[in-house]
Amino acid sequence: MEQVRIGVIGIGVMGSRHAEYLFGGEVANAVLTAVCDIRQSRLDWAKEKFGDRVARFEKAEELMDSGLVDAVLVAVPHYLHPDYAIYAFARGLHVLCEKPAGVYAKQVQEMNDAAKRSGKVFALMYNQRTNPYFRRLRELVQSGELGELRRMTWVVTNWYRSQSYYDSSDWRATWNGEGGGIMINQCPHNLDMWQWVCGVPSRIRAFCQTGRYHTIEVEDSVTVYAEYENGMTAQFISTTGEPHGTNRLEVTADKGKVVIEEVADNEFKFTHWKFEQSEREFNATYTAGFGEPKAAATEFIPEETFPYFEGHRKITRNFVNAILNGEALIAPGEEGIHAVRMINAIYWSGWTEDWARLPVDEDRYLAKLEEKKRSSTVKKVARVIDMDVTTSK
Ligand SMILES: NC(=O)c1ccc[n+]([C@@H]2O[C@H](COP(=O)([O-])OP(=O)(O)OC[C@H]3O[C@@H](n4cnc5c(N)ncnc54)[C@H](O)[C@@H]3O)[C@@H](O)[C@H]2O)c1
Repeated sequence: MEQVRIGVIGIGVMGSRHAEYLFGGEVANAVLTAVCDIRQSRLDWAKEKFGDRVARFEKAEELMDSGLVDAVLVAVPHYLHPDYAIYAFARGLHVLCEKPAGVYAKQVQEMNDAAKRSGKVFALMYNQRTNPYFRRLRELVQSGELGELRRMTWVVTNWYRSQSYYDSSDWRATWNGEGGGIMINQCPHNLDMWQWVCGVPSRIRAFCQTGRYHTIEVEDSVTVYAEYENGMTAQFISTTGEPHGTNRLEVTADKGKVVIEEVADNEFKFTHWKFEQSEREFNATYTAGFGEPKAAATEFIPEETFPYFEGHRKITRNFVNAILNGEALIAPGEEGIHAVRMINAIYWSGWTEDWARLPVDEDRYLAKLEEKKRSSTVKKVARVIDMDVTTSK
């Protein structure tokens, strides 16, 4: 195969962007051959944008059975991600799936099993894994330069959303349509990054506030405290209710400390304090009472600039290169289950007002989620608006 023929399933806010850059030839050796959406208005948009060079389907299954695609990019609401991925794998197609991998771990495990059976390339749109600042932090952890991790504190409240965002689609911010709120929609990026850098914690205590700032039936404000077997702790705070929110990640370790702060939209400041002596060693040998290990603070400045939406293209290029030349994936699909397990644990802890050990029992979680879906009172009629996708992330 010299060129990968890609079909985009779901051409809403995100899928339409993927379709546009693929159609625009921004991913070498890939071509957009088909799109699918259940909404006629989106298919009309595709006809106007791409003409008849790109086939249009109302049903995802018909796109996948058409013989027109080698791979699909799944960009529909989250519950459907595993369903369509499993269908695609069964037809020998490669899959690039939007985040989150799914809503609950049981369905994500089934998707991972199907991917493995198929032997096809399976990747996730974890575009923030291409962010050079977070990549640098991961390098410092993985190389051992930071030493044993002690604490991670992440305040990520720059996910502000207005009521009109929630009202724009009938599936958003409902148990039935989305399976959660800010944790399942905005924060999968951060939870994936958290586990990618620090690993998955062993237990979580979470406080989820339902509809604190919006008329929605799911949470829009969350505080998480987590622990690891080695004593490491983590705090994670997020909300869609605070304008001009913060994105500040602090990781402390035995041999250093890193703070990454988003100082302007998509502009980061990365400071690394490298201790001259590890804290454990200093503590064991220092005799003068007051004092602390000396540290040199340096800033990390990446060589290349980092436009936010370039990350999505990088993931898609990497996916295509993995299909054509076996390039290692930046975000392998099977890793998506980690963030889903963390989300499930956060909700479980909130629902039970107790600690949740990871992984939460998949069947019990699903039963509780079904209960939430049954008790869902929201029957939304979407007030479809022309969303400014240039500001969506
Ligand atoms: N990686 C990112 O930065 C990023 C950003 C935004 C959204 N997303 C993810 O992309 C997915 C879609 O989010 P969105 O904001 O684009 O939502 P959206 O509602 O704007 O788009 C979803 C589209 O899927 C269509 N659809 C629904 N059911 C379908 C079906 N059965 N078959 C075909 N089409 C169907 C809808 O009509 C809609 O056009 C979500 O899972 C979301 O988490 C990722």
